[in-house]
Amino acid sequence: MKESLITVAYIAASALFILSLGGLSRQETARRGNIYGIIGMLIALVATVFAIKDGNYVMLAGAVIPGLAIGAVLAARVQMTSMPQLVAMLHSFVGLAAVLVGFGTYLGATKITADEVTVHLVETFIGVCIGAVTFTGSVIAYAKLQGTISGKPLMIPGRHVINLAMLVATVVLGVLFVMAPETAGLNYLIAATVITFILGLHFVMAIGGADMPVVVSMLNSYSGWAAAAAGFMLSNDLLIVTGALVGSSGAILSYIMCKGMNRSFISVMLGGFGTEGGTVASSSGEPEGEVRSVEAPGASDLLLNAKKIIIVPGYGLAVAQAQHSLAEVCKILKEKGVEVKFAIHPVAGRLPGHMNVLLAEANIPYDIVFEMDEINDEFPGTDVAWVIGANDIVNPSALDDPGSPIAGMPVLHVWESRDVIVMKRSMASGYAGVDNPLFYKENTLMLFGDAKKVVDEILTAMRG
Ligand code: TAP
Repeated sequence: MKESLITVAYIAASALFILSLGGLSRQETARRGNIYGIIGMLIALVATVFAIKDGNYVMLAGAVIPGLAIGAVLAARVQMTSMPQLVAMLHSFVGLAAVLVGFGTYLGATKITADEVTVHLVETFIGVCIGAVTFTGSVIAYAKLQGTISGKPLMIPGRHVINLAMLVATVVLGVLFVMAPETAGLNYLIAATVITFILGLHFVMAIGGADMPVVVSMLNSYSGWAAAAAGFMLSNDLLIVTGALVGSSGAILSYIMCKGMNRSFISVMLGGFGTEGGTVASSSGEPEGEVRSVEAPGASDLLLNAKKIIIVPGYGLAVAQAQHSLAEVCKILKEKGVEVKFAIHPVAGRLPGHMNVLLAEANIPYDIVFEMDEINDEFPGTDVAWVIGANDIVNPSALDDPGSPIAGMPVLHVWESRDVIVMKRSMASGYAGVDNPLFYKENTLMLFGDAKKVVDEILTAMRG
């Protein structure tokens, strides 16, 4: 009876996780998706605790309750812009858990039958190694995103050979480990753990700050596979299903991000891109032309006199937290009969769906928010393209300068509108560190200042 109840609970939780992922794929259903995920996790937690035979519940509560409390406080406090760091830190826990589960099962915490031994040893070894790479890789990703260590890629000479040597050594240790009798393979497992710890660390150290979100998503995928491997070790079906869902969705997300930046997954993993802090010269040198600027009242007039406006939000909107004031401006424009749409680039901001979350927070209606592919053809018929805190995602050199570090990246064609207002604090480059010729185009007006402050000024001017 107890067994059947647990199986039913695990099936229900798995179904809820799948519904959750389905819900999260669209803005309109994201909230519902989140709730499915929460309910699924609650069911999974209760069923897992219920499944423990002769367990020490006091010890379990001693570990779980502080964990819940710390998680809740951290999640409540985190800023949207620091979300990638938090996610990286959480992945490191999954990696470490997989390593510990692997050692625990190997040293006899779980009894298995003799004919399952080889399969079990392979599972254990793979789980520990993926977990170890995920753990140190995520810790480094966290430190880079948090600014604790430099975001610059660490380019040790011959680093690919070093990585390959570590990989080969791990495979050899794996074979020795599986062939070793009883627990005599422990030393091989320890050696492989140390090597894969170093591999994860070295591998992420070589990747630059600009590629870190892709790395976090890839580590998300790894943490899923590590959890699935832990599920095999513990013979826990729910952990296998959940791990596989996280593993595959993380891999798909990494692919989408790479496509949005026109980078191949391999080029991201080989590292070296993203010299955060400095500006990378493009092959055609400094952009030419004159920079024209406008103040908030002038921008307000331009917006009010337009028939159609497309707003392009970027990372600066998130930093300034200008979304609520922007929603007010949109309301006024709508009342005055101006058609307002939002254009969302797939890698705008610093994490997937970053802009969608910000706009949803400010209750901007979903039906005026469009993905890049849906709206890019509309710029020629638009009076004003209003770029707020975005830079790389509206950089024309991605299309017309083959020597640019972002050459080939799909961008929003804002310059095809009649007028462009670019709102940012200075002429500084964006995350990829590349100059932006958009700022020098004849139909571009720069509006300098913090996005929140300037949107508030525009709001005041419109109300006045
Ligand atoms: P960026 O190119 O980073 O540009 C953001 C701009 O916002 C900066 O140039 C900055 O200029 C401005 N800004 C910063 N704080 C501001 C404030 N308080 N008020 C007004 N403006 C402010 O951002 P983007 O256009 O959103 O592009 C995203 C970049 O991140 C791309 O390079 C993309 O490849 C990369 N990336 C994103 C992701 C995901 S999943 N989103 C993943 C990997 C990489 P000032 O300093 O002059 O103000």
